[in-house]
Amino acid sequence: MIEWFAVDLIKQAGELIRREIDQSYEVERKTGKGDLVTEIDRAVEQLIVRRIQHTFPEHQIMGEEGTTDQPEQLTGTVWFVDPIDGTLNFIHQKRMFAISIAIMIDGVVEYGFVYDVMADEMFMARKGYGATLNGRTLTTLHEHHVRDAFLSMNATWVTPNHQIAPEILAPIVRDSIGTRAHGAASLELAWLAAGRVDGYITMRNMPWDYAAGKLLVEEVGGRVVSLYGEPIRYDGKTSVLAGSDSFVNDVIKHYVITKGVTAEAKPDLHIVEHDSYEEIRDLLVLANPNEAMVREQFEEGRTYKALLGGEIVGAYMLVSHEGNRVELVNIAVKPERQNQTIGQRMLQDAVKRATMIGGKELLVCTGNSSIMQLRFYQQAGFRFDSVERDYFRDHGYDDIEEDGLVLRDRICLTRPL
Ligand code: IPD
Ligand code: CA
Ligand code: CA
Repeated sequence: MIEWFAVDLIKQAGELIRREIDQSYEVERKTGKGDLVTEIDRAVEQLIVRRIQHTFPEHQIMGEEGTTDQPEQLTGTVWFVDPIDGTLNFIHQKRMFAISIAIMIDGVVEYGFVYDVMADEMFMARKGYGATLNGRTLTTLHEHHVRDAFLSMNATWVTPNHQIAPEILAPIVRDSIGTRAHGAASLELAWLAAGRVDGYITMRNMPWDYAAGKLLVEEVGGRVVSLYGEPIRYDGKTSVLAGSDSFVNDVIKHYVITKGVTAEAKPDLHIVEHDSYEEIRDLLVLANPNEAMVREQFEEGRTYKALLGGEIVGAYMLVSHEGNRVELVNIAVKPERQNQTIGQRMLQDAVKRATMIGGKELLVCTGNSSIMQLRFYQQAGFRFDSVERDYFRDHGYDDIEEDGLVLRDRICLTRPL
């Protein structure tokens, strides 16, 4: 049976890890100082992948360390494999890490295994049949609210990060009875299933981190969804909120939704002055395809970039004119980052900075066909100031059409500062 094949495989992999843990091994950085992989992670994944491929050649495998091709579609039988979940713990603490394996059959995760290698604890779940720890049945989760929950959550999510504004999750830490950062997602979910913690929250997990643990939690009556209450998918990165029904509802209703946070909301932007034209050229010409004009404005004014983590996601410029008028030009947001309130936040920033450089009035000009921009500026308190007919034709813009309108006239709007 596939279940016993998996258990045997995991035990064999566990032995390999226990044998190697005190030897010296290579450690490599993946995306950053906290994202490491060792020779042992790779060796364990290879062992697991080879045995699955040998016994079930038609099965697909989604493994963290890329020792086999990732499935293009989650069809047939798919194994989700994290050979060492909690690599930092493995390296620094030599404990509190797990082998995590889930088996999905025709789109449904049917089996989940989380093996705490050093504690020799095997958590297993089969869909519809409950969950066990070393053969003992795990009982139904007790209901908890945030105020009486003992939580597992990484401190990353209450410091500035790329996924969520810290002030959304900080009140949960404040209100709960205690928070621990255990550093191994699959184990944190398994411990939740065993009643050792009452909730788990993360903003960034991959399917091999949560697929097995999610089934464990669900098999003891718990709920596992995204932080915004959406069902969890198995095809990429996601936030994970897990716990009893009451805990999950409490978090979504009283801490996430009340703050107006949606899946699209992004963490704090950092907007700073910028002085290299080439680096943001592509963004600026999105706002104004007349590059000669953009370059001139760049020389003349001040340029600011919006950073989300290390990524430049937007830019704008301020150019001072006579009479304490400051013009906002070339405000642009990366196409894949649009509709995430970045434009609004850059505009608020522009208002502040224009005031700081002595402006009394902020001017912005756009085209007659830029309907969205006309709405955006008016919503931000701008009023129509002037129209220059045929400005765009006279300034060498070829026929540009937006929203079924030809770009012809320049419309300027102002708002007091
Ligand atoms: C990580 C751990 C960590 C979680 C990260 C995972 P790894 O897995 O589970 O607790 O916060 O999201 O990537 O890299 O140690 O296998
Ligand atoms: Ca992992
Ligand atoms: Ca791993």
